[in-house]
Amino acid sequence: MTHQDIRKQFDALIKAAFQTLSIPEKPASLYDPVRYVMGMGGKRLRPRLLMLSAGMCGGNPEKAVPAARAVEMLHNFTLIHDDMMDNAGTRRGMATVHEKWDDAVAILSGDVLFVLAMQELSVQGKQAGLSGEVNTEMMQRFLEAIRVVCDGQALDMDFGQRDNVTLPEYLEMIGAKTAALLRCSMELGAMTAGAVEEMVANCGDIGEQAGLAFQIQDDLLDAVGDATKFGKKVGGDIIEGKKTWLTIRALERADDTDRLLLRQILGNPAATEQDVLRVIRIYHDLGVIDDAVRAIGEHYNNALQKLALFEESTYQGEIKLLLDKLKVRDN
Ligand code: IPE
Ligand code: IPE
Ligand code: MG
Ligand code: MG
Ligand code: MG
Repeated sequence: MTHQDIRKQFDALIKAAFQTLSIPEKPASLYDPVRYVMGMGGKRLRPRLLMLSAGMCGGNPEKAVPAARAVEMLHNFTLIHDDMMDNAGTRRGMATVHEKWDDAVAILSGDVLFVLAMQELSVQGKQAGLSGEVNTEMMQRFLEAIRVVCDGQALDMDFGQRDNVTLPEYLEMIGAKTAALLRCSMELGAMTAGAVEEMVANCGDIGEQAGLAFQIQDDLLDAVGDATKFGKKVGGDIIEGKKTWLTIRALERADDTDRLLLRQILGNPAATEQDVLRVIRIYHDLGVIDDAVRAIGEHYNNALQKLALFEESTYQGEIKLLLDKLKVRDN
């Protein structure tokens, strides 16, 4: 099969997987937001990586659909709660759940989406004819990844109260809040294919490195992206005072005048559009934007190096193409 064929097959598979999700009707106050968020689309990156990883390890990607649904549902659960925690009003170009409904709705619909994700994963074993042992191992890895995502989100929140966060601390935080689920997605895909542990771990490493790149890039797009493509409010991290790759590097490099200005603006709810532009100017002037682009490239390259350990195949090539596309993403 050519890359185009595989891409088409995957697009159709993913579309179908999420169109045929069975989400209960009632109570509407609980499930309407779930339907809303799952129907908002998004890049579906995690299920795609999961199924490609299954294919690369010699399995049938179609058999990995339950696990693919599970990671995407879990991801969407984290987004509902994350938007509340980050005071974000827009996602995928639409109102966030807590904005459209309220916090109580966002908490509960997030919780139930979490459970629906677990239920999806629980049918994976049967679907792919996996042994009980592999099944249990998959569930354990999934649960551990969720726990680590919570660790990362807690660190992200804790960093809000600190102004001496270092880049190694930041990398630990994003390794947890973002890279852990990408790692897990690649691992689960490999496991549905019955891959040996070494292969599972290599797939996991690809996911993790891509995840680190992905989050630094998310930070970058949050500052200098195009809001209509990015689907989130640009400058949101600056106003919220998030400790991002950009803020940390900028604070390290700034002279006293710039540092004072940054401290006045970052996390200031009264910051104006002008202020946000001032911060972005400083990022550019200090070379922070260029540095971030470099760091993103390094992590994607690490992922590609791990990918090169696998025999060449259309699936392996497809993952390479996906990583190359992610590298220059604008959404
Ligand atoms: C957003 O993830 C949260 C981060 C980890 C940065 P995505 O950028 O994958 O979100 P969607 O699903 O495509 O909207
Ligand atoms: C999100 O980090 C990580 C998780 C959702 C676990 P961000 O807070 O940067 O994600 P966005 O920018 O809101 O999508
Ligand atoms: Mg957020
Ligand atoms: Mg967040
Ligand atoms: Mg972000």
